[in-house]
Parts: sequence; structure tokens; C-alpha cells
Amino acid sequence: MIVGIIGLGTLGRAIAAGLREHATVRAIHGTNRRAAPLPDHPHVTVGSDNRTLAECADVIVLCVKPFQVESVAREIADVLTPEKMIVTCAASVSIAQVRAWTGERVQVIRAMPNMPCRIGEGMTVLAPGEQATEQHAALVESLFATLGRTAIIDERLMDAATGISGCGPAYAYVIIESLSDAGVKLGLPRDVARLLVAQTIMGSAKMVLASDTHPAALKDEVTTPAGCTIDGLMELEEGRLRHTLLRAAVAAATRSATLTSGQG
Ligand SMILES: NC(=O)c1ccc[n+]([C@@H]2O[C@H](COP(=O)([O-])OP(=O)(O)OC[C@H]3O[C@@H](n4cnc5c(N)ncnc54)[C@H](OP(=O)(O)O)[C@@H]3O)[C@@H](O)[C@H]2O)c1
Repeated sequence: MIVGIIGLGTLGRAIAAGLREHATVRAIHGTNRRAAPLPDHPHVTVGSDNRTLAECADVIVLCVKPFQVESVAREIADVLTPEKMIVTCAASVSIAQVRAWTGERVQVIRAMPNMPCRIGEGMTVLAPGEQATEQHAALVESLFATLGRTAIIDERLMDAATGISGCGPAYAYVIIESLSDAGVKLGLPRDVARLLVAQTIMGSAKMVLASDTHPAALKDEVTTPAGCTIDGLMELEEGRLRHTLLRAAVAAATRSATLTSGQG
């Protein structure tokens, strides 16, 4: 199978990095406007001609900004065939829009990956849409499974997923940065503080993924009566951390629905 990635920017490069691990991917081609080569990705052939890419690729992954999707889709429309598949990663752009812009010639699956795809620890939600066959959906899921975990959801929940997992790495980095600063304030060297925090967040996340236990029960397990953790938790409640995170994700999901009208 040949994969073509239109838009070798931040996300496109992260996807290209992991996809070479997929057993059936024979070649990866990609485009950006300037045909700028990617020295870190010698396995990716880089060009700027989207039509040539669309002609040779079996799966075409759109990784351009939401407001750029329509022009790219119209540009490649007449070289598409029903055997090909488009995977659109742009927030806010619907399957129906991409199908209309490509003259309904091709299967379209919507994806919302996140940046840890770059190291095989990504989270990708996929919405196959009604026209995609089960085989096509399974193939696309297997492609993204080489980049981390996957989940299939209904397309109407895509903005919600964008607010949680698409944008989520940014929230996690802010939490890691803040706790690392706390470590420095308490006298730890910066690199040690960073390691302590990142490994703690990763270990806690793995505990959640590895069990069916509610996160609140896992929290109770590490909170000794009259110990120090409960003092820390009281400060989190005082700072309304739960409410703030909830509002952050809702704000991002709300914005996600409007991105085609802006430069985001
Ligand atoms: N970044 C994330 O964490 C993330 C997560 C999930 C989904 N997404 C989605 O992924 C998409 C891309 O985001 P990004 O952060 O990767 O953006 P980005 O870094 O700006 O990358 C966009 C890429 O598209 C290229 N491009 C623009 N117009 C093109 C055209 N006509 N033909 C070929 N290439 C073209 C640009 O090339 P030049 O550099 O040469 O202009 C650039 O390489 C967005 O729709 C976003 O919603 C991003």
C-alpha cells in the first residue's frame, strides 16, 4: 500500500514517522507547499504536487489546516477513484464536505490523532462515516494503531474528541511544566524534577489504562488519612483544578467546531 500525506507539517510529519512501521505500507509520499525536504524522515518522498501524490497513493491523509482542505480536495478530485481512501485529520471539516469537494468519488474517513503519534503513543479517534466499508475502516484503524491507540466514534462527537485528546497533550504539558517548577521551587534540579513529574504522570495514566478502577478510587488508594497528599489535594480543590480542566476542554471543543472560518 502507498500512503500519501498532503501537508507535511507538525501532524503530517508525526504520522509519517510512525507509519513506516506498518507491515503493508510500501512507500510514503508527502507534500507541503514548498516541497521542503525532511532530513529526519529519509523514508518519506517529499514533493509539492498534490495531484501526482493522489494519483499514486492508495490512502491519502489530509493534514493541512482546516481552511485549506477545500482547495486541496478540489485540486485532487478528478484523479480520485472509488478504490482510494481519504483520511481527513482537519478539525471541524466534515466527511460530507470532503465528499462533496471531491465529487463523491472516494471513501472518506475522518480522524483526530494527537502529537504523541510521533513516538507511537498517540491517541487517534476515527469516524468512518456511512459510506466507508468495514474493510476500509479496519485498514485505516490498523494504520493508526501503529501510531498508538485508536477508538471509533460517531462523527458528531469529533469536536468533543478534539477538545479532549486532540488538544490534550497541551494540557498535559502545562501540568508537567507547573509541577516541574514546583520541584525547582522545592530545591530539585530542573532535569530531576522534570523526570519525576513526567514519569509520575505516565505511570498514573498507565495505572488507569491497565485497570477498570475509577480514577477516584486510585486517588483514595494513595491518600493516607492525615498524610501529606490530602493537603495537596485540598489546594487543588481550592484552585478549582477540576472545573478549570473541564472548562478548558469544553472551550477547545467549542472552538474546534468553527475552525474552517479562521486560520486555526
Ligand atoms: N498539530 C496537532 O497537534 C494536531 C492534532 C490533531 C489534528 N490536527 C490537524 O492537522 C492539521 C494540520 O495541523 P498542523 O499543526 O500539522 O499544521 P501545520 O504544521 O501548519 O502543517 C500544515 C502543512 O500543510 C502544508 N500545506 C498547506 N497548504 C498545502 C497545499 N495546498 N498542499 C500541500 N501542503 C500544504 C504546509 O506546507 P508549508 O509549510 O510549505 O506551507 C504545512 O506543511 C489541521 O487541520 C489540524 O486541525 C493537528
